[in-house]
Amino acid sequence: MKLSAATTLFSLALATVPPPGPDGKYTLTAPGITAKFIPYAACITNLLVPDKNGTLRDIILGYDNASFYPVDPNHSDYGAVPGRYANRIKDHTYVLNGTRYFTEANDGNGTLHSGTNGWSHRVWNVSAVSNTSITFSITDVGNSSLGMPGTVMGSVTHSVSNSSWHTTIAAHAVDHVTPLMLTTHPYWNLDAFANPDTDLILNHTLSLPFGKRMIGIDENTESTGELPTVPKGDINDFWSAPKMIGASMGDARWVGNCGTAGGCAGYNNQWLVDRGSGEEEMPIATLSSGWSGIKWDLYSDQPGIVVYSCHWMGGGNQLKAAQGGKASNGFVRKDGCVAVEPQDWIDGINHPEWNRTQYQINGPGMPPFSSFIQYKFSTV
Ligand SMILES: *[C@@H]1O[C@H](CO)[C@@H](O)[C@H](O)[C@H]1NC(C)=O
Ligand SMILES: *[C@@H]1O[C@H](CO)[C@@H](O)[C@H](O)[C@H]1NC(C)=O
Ligand SMILES: *[C@@H]1O[C@H](CO)[C@@H](O)[C@H](O)[C@H]1NC(C)=O
Ligand SMILES: *[C@@H]1O[C@H](CO)[C@@H](O)[C@H](O)[C@H]1NC(C)=O
Ligand SMILES: *[C@@H]1O[C@H](CO)[C@@H](O)[C@H](O)[C@H]1NC(C)=O
Ligand SMILES: *[C@@H]1O[C@H](CO)[C@@H](O)[C@H](O)[C@H]1NC(C)=O
Ligand SMILES: *[C@@H]1O[C@H](CO)[C@@H](O)[C@H](O)[C@H]1NC(C)=O
Ligand SMILES: *[C@@H]1O[C@H](CO)[C@@H](O)[C@H](O)[C@H]1NC(C)=O
Ligand SMILES: *[C@@H]1O[C@H](CO)[C@@H](O)[C@H](O)[C@H]1NC(C)=O
Ligand SMILES: *[C@@H]1O[C@H](CO)[C@@H](O)[C@H](O)[C@H]1NC(C)=O
Ligand SMILES: *[C@@H]1O[C@H](CO)[C@@H](O)[C@H](O)[C@H]1NC(C)=O
Repeated sequence: MKLSAATTLFSLALATVPPPGPDGKYTLTAPGITAKFIPYAACITNLLVPDKNGTLRDIILGYDNASFYPVDPNHSDYGAVPGRYANRIKDHTYVLNGTRYFTEANDGNGTLHSGTNGWSHRVWNVSAVSNTSITFSITDVGNSSLGMPGTVMGSVTHSVSNSSWHTTIAAHAVDHVTPLMLTTHPYWNLDAFANPDTDLILNHTLSLPFGKRMIGIDENTESTGELPTVPKGDINDFWSAPKMIGASMGDARWVGNCGTAGGCAGYNNQWLVDRGSGEEEMPIATLSSGWSGIKWDLYSDQPGIVVYSCHWMGGGNQLKAAQGGKASNGFVRKDGCVAVEPQDWIDGINHPEWNRTQYQINGPGMPPFSSFIQYKFSTV
């Protein structure tokens, strides 16, 4: 079934699609939700839902100016689909079928989101668009992502319905085996930076009910191969009960928790999603803010979730005009957002002992990569 769905997406001709709106964006609307998308990085730029008073809030990070994305010097993968291999590759190298490949070292000695020619740096084609759905497609020719062999064809469909944003991703390596791991990379501030008491997300409440194990990291945030368990009450415990993101700021491990070398404070980590039978349909994460009352539940088939609490935001990224308030200076500050990426285990191509390579390596004759990610919005 997955195969035929993906095949249909790949075979979509480049039909004549309507141009974007005057703001350079495609707008999708459904009851309780409006979302905007651009072909650059197949990304979401705006997401408006009502807060507890019924006021529409744009709760996702992005820019008003669509043409700024490709030239943004602080390329933050805002709302993007990073690829063809998302997240980190330790020491920018991996071995595939006996050949060692070297990828671009764009994050210290490691590779992040496949380097500066990754899918989040490309202008995708628009294959189909309606009032509630848009499909972007990409043909990533052999080695056009440095050090990743073979051609990959990918497509991403974003759709909205009844207070929900749904994404399906399908991709297939057509002529060579290659690493393939995809996700979406939205950054959230559920108060739209308008909370008069704080423009930060430290008081957003996060729940990761299946996050009892993590990907172990070294000082540079690269995978060590360990899969440590998360004890109840630990700084990284979001499974035993929902917790505010900043609740453990007083913990001695807060600084360095996401990488000691750079003193990364807070979270830039991956929790595994260890679901039992009967739990497949349950949300893998829930985020809410008391001030706006906005809450999302995240549903996905992916076996891990990355949460990044924006330690590295330097204060230079401008908010959208509809965002901000008394506590904000109009820019995204450290701890001002939280990025969430449901995806397979980070750097699994370098850890065959994890048994994830069958999902992270794709090639001719193999079933296409597929992923679904759905955010359901409500108020509390
Ligand atoms: C949008 O960004 C582009 C690229 O930086 C710039 O040339 C243009 O002037 C900007 N437009 C507005 C309205 O800010
Ligand atoms: C960086 O990665 C290369 C392999 O790609 C390795 O040979 C080298 O030792 C690494 N450097 C450091 C400082 O870890
Ligand atoms: C691995 O490499 C061998 C020898 O080059 C080749 O015959 C084989 O098809 C490759 N396997 C895959 C899955 O690409
Ligand atoms: C799409 O939206 C436009 C503008 O709101 C509307 O005129 C049109 O009827 C809608 N099309 C469909 C198929 O609902
Ligand atoms: C978009 O389609 C054109 C025409 O088929 C193709 O040349 C181009 O590479 C495609 N762009 C991407 C990002 O795949
Ligand atoms: C990919 O491109 C780089 C840089 O041009 C080159 O060094 C490398 O050999 C290429 N790899 C493959 C598999 O074609
Ligand atoms: C929309 O979602 C609300 C809340 O989950 C639900 O009560 C309602 O039945 C849904 N409406 C439709 C048309 O699906
Ligand atoms: C955040 O939550 C803490 C603990 O409940 C509370 O003491 C603090 O006042 C809150 N901060 C803001 C800015 O709302
Ligand atoms: C909701 O309305 C109440 C009463 O007017 C107000 O005090 C509160 O600030 C509003 N909350 C938001 C998120 O706008
Ligand atoms: C990029 O970020 C730096 C550091 O936060 C900031 O000084 C600069 O203004 C930003 N540049 C743009 C164009 O936003
Ligand atoms: C991988 O599979 C082997 C053999 O079934 C098993 O012993 C091992 O625990 C698995 N590794 C992980 C990380 O689940």
